[in-house]
Amino acid sequence: MGIRPALIVSTDRADDARSWALEKGVLDSSFHPISLDDEIAWPMTDIIPCDFGRIEEMEFQPRTAIDPHVRLQQALPNMEIPRRWEMLGDLALLPQNALLDGDESTWTAIAQALHCQRVARQAEIEAGPIRRSQVEMLLGNDGWVNHLENGVRYLFDVSKVMFSSGNITERRRMGKIDAAGDVVVDLFAGIGYYSIPLLVNAGVSYVHACEMNPDSIEGLTKGLSANMVTDRCHILQGDNQETAPRLKGVADRVLLGLLPSSKEAWPLAVECLKIEGGVIHVHMNATEESLEDGTFVSTTVEEFQALDCEVEVLHLENVKSYSPHIRHVVLDLKVTKL
Ligand SMILES: C[S@@+](CC[C@H](N)C(=O)[O-])C[C@H]1O[C@@H](n2cnc3c(N)ncnc32)[C@H](O)[C@@H]1O
Repeated sequence: MGIRPALIVSTDRADDARSWALEKGVLDSSFHPISLDDEIAWPMTDIIPCDFGRIEEMEFQPRTAIDPHVRLQQALPNMEIPRRWEMLGDLALLPQNALLDGDESTWTAIAQALHCQRVARQAEIEAGPIRRSQVEMLLGNDGWVNHLENGVRYLFDVSKVMFSSGNITERRRMGKIDAAGDVVVDLFAGIGYYSIPLLVNAGVSYVHACEMNPDSIEGLTKGLSANMVTDRCHILQGDNQETAPRLKGVADRVLLGLLPSSKEAWPLAVECLKIEGGVIHVHMNATEESLEDGTFVSTTVEEFQALDCEVEVLHLENVKSYSPHIRHVVLDLKVTKL
């Protein structure tokens, strides 16, 4: 509520009064106008001489800010609010180091301002191949989210499994590639970051998903079910060096979605391809210098050629900045076995 000068005019002059107040720069659009019997009251920032209507003080209702940044700053007027955050289902994920001095009332205010139920704070992703999330729950104990993106549902526990919002373009791209009918081997499936959009939006016929983290497998299983594609995916639990040799010669397409490097699995990826070959999506962290001078692409091609393959570069996708001067890229290669 706010006490403001009100310009009160008959309803037939409502538009004139509004235009006049706007033109004079005194219309306070952060409050709702009030409808009286045959009159309307426009909130004003200041009192200036006016030819029609009358001016009185009235109590106005503030408009709810549409911009969530404004709502958050209004909810926490004395705090430095983060410039960005992620919405994962009904959970707001704050950046690492945001609002370190916050308490329970802070998290409740955030949930109200951002219209969500739970609040968590990002943390460093654990080093190591599983890339475990170390997100801290601030409001609510259960970290499971059901996140909808590009028509695909991802289910995972934010406190255990990473979800890189920066990879959204790559998840969308996988849903749009020309892969209908393909058999796919995903060597680092996680919760189905790329496998599920391939199944749901790109129409691949089948995915063999290799994954060794039980928490990710739980998310993948739930995600396949939520997207109604369980019957088109086979999960191979365990280290792909042990499980994927069973997939020799089955794939039209292989995904290598591991950072910082998927290199250890390159020979395995080639083995999984059908005899006539196919496409491999090679995720890597590459220096900006090696991307600019072309050495990233040329050395990757040479290393695949050394695996007895003919290699054609189809596309280089620049996904995101990983760290200063390091880019997460995906090199799409058409690989023919010799
Ligand atoms: C988290 S995803 C990577 C997603 C995305 N490309 C990124 O890094 O930003 C990688 C997944 O590969 C799994 N993984 C790593 N090494 C593996 C291996 N040898 N066999 C099976 N799964 C593995 C991890 O458990 C993890 O779920």
